[in-house]
Parts: sequence; C-alpha cells; structure tokens
Amino acid sequence: MARFGGVKVTWFGHSAFRFISPNRKVIWVDPWLEHPLAPPDTKEGPKADLILVTHGHSDHLGNTIDLAQKTGALVVAIYEIMLYLQKKGLENLQGMNKGGTWEWEGIRVTMTDATHSSGIDDAGNVFPGGEAAGFIITFENGFKVYHAGDTGLFGGLSLIGDFYKPDLVCLPIGSLFTMGPEEAAYAVTLLKPRWIIPMHFKTFPVLTGQPEAFLQALPAEYRDRVIVLKPGETAE
Ligand code: NI
Ligand code: MN
Repeated sequence: MARFGGVKVTWFGHSAFRFISPNRKVIWVDPWLEHPLAPPDTKEGPKADLILVTHGHSDHLGNTIDLAQKTGALVVAIYEIMLYLQKKGLENLQGMNKGGTWEWEGIRVTMTDATHSSGIDDAGNVFPGGEAAGFIITFENGFKVYHAGDTGLFGGLSLIGDFYKPDLVCLPIGSLFTMGPEEAAYAVTLLKPRWIIPMHFKTFPVLTGQPEAFLQALPAEYRDRVIVLKPGETAE
C-alpha cells in the first residue's frame, strides 16, 4: 500500500518519528528513543540525515545530541535551541523560526506555531529554548506531513490546514501537556488531512487520552483516515 506516495513513516512512540523520503533521506522528528514504550532496537545507533526538534522539553529533544553525534545528521530547530546545541558541542546545525522555510536536497521544512512552552531542562537548570513549534515537511514528491509537536488547540491550525494542506498530520492526543482526544478531533476538522497518526499518548499513565476516545470524537468521515501505530511500526 502506498498511501504516502513513497514516504515511509515509522513511529517510535511518544512524538518520535522517522521519515524515509522517496530519495531515501532519513529524517527524524523529536527522537526520544529511551522512553518506557520505546522499541528496543532503536537504541542501536540508527541512520539519520536530518533531525528536526519541535521544542526543548526532554521528551522531544530526547536523544538528539547522541543521534547527531553518531550519525553526523544536521539538526534543525528554533534559533535558541540551536544556540543551546552549539554550546553542547554540535556543529552541524540549522536554526530557523516560525513561518520560515528551509530547503535541503529537495525537501522543504517549514516551522509552524504551537501553543506550548519550550524550556530546556539541563541537569536541573532551565535553559531558554525559545518557543515551541511544529513542522511541515514537504517531501521531494510533494507529499506534506504536519508534525504538530506539543500543542493545545489554537486558531492557527485552520491557517495551517488552509494554506499548507497537509496530507498527513501527526497530532498529540494524550492531554495534560497537549491537546486531548476531543481537541485533537476538532483540530482534524480544521486541518482536513488525508491521513492522521495520533501521538504523545500512553507513554506515562498521566497521558490519559487514548486513540479510542479520539476516534469516537472524530466526525465519521475522518475515522478511516486514522492510522494507529504501535511503537516501532511503519506505515507507507
Ligand atoms: Ni513539551
Ligand atoms: Mn511532550
């Protein structure tokens, strides 16, 4: 099944995704690979060309430094997180900010808004991480993914839907720190994607939003567009 026109999408649990582009570029978003539900084989030093970081919280910045050091991947993040990563010794970095687009090897990365915070917990000291963001990734074949990062429901989602028309959206549903199932269902009606992958649920007991509640809250016409993955599973 080639629902994504040659883009391979693997969910590693929480907000960690790996996308393999039609030209075999390997793009990670929020590679936190050591959470309680992480599939075991992700700790082995995977391949990466690009790493996109939505915000500074440890469950998103995750294993970025380690993965970048092992693979030499270029890390893309909001300017302040780029400064932090520079301080941590990474050199292959691209800072950007919301609304901007950066192009690399035929792939376009656009940073979007998100309503959330972004402080970096560095061994108990909070380092300013700019603001939380999301990403639109436009692959070589035009396929568009919107990874919302951590966010609540906000009006800009309808702009993102109208303007970028994402084919696939990765939306948090766990509640407490992000949208819950009902808000995410409403967000879908603003974004009008062809496909939806829920994320940021079940990792910890406090993330109570579940895919069942999300599906139930969705208007019927969107229900068969939802792809619920298990950590480590791939869709394409
Ligand atoms: Ni967060
Ligand atoms: Mn989070």
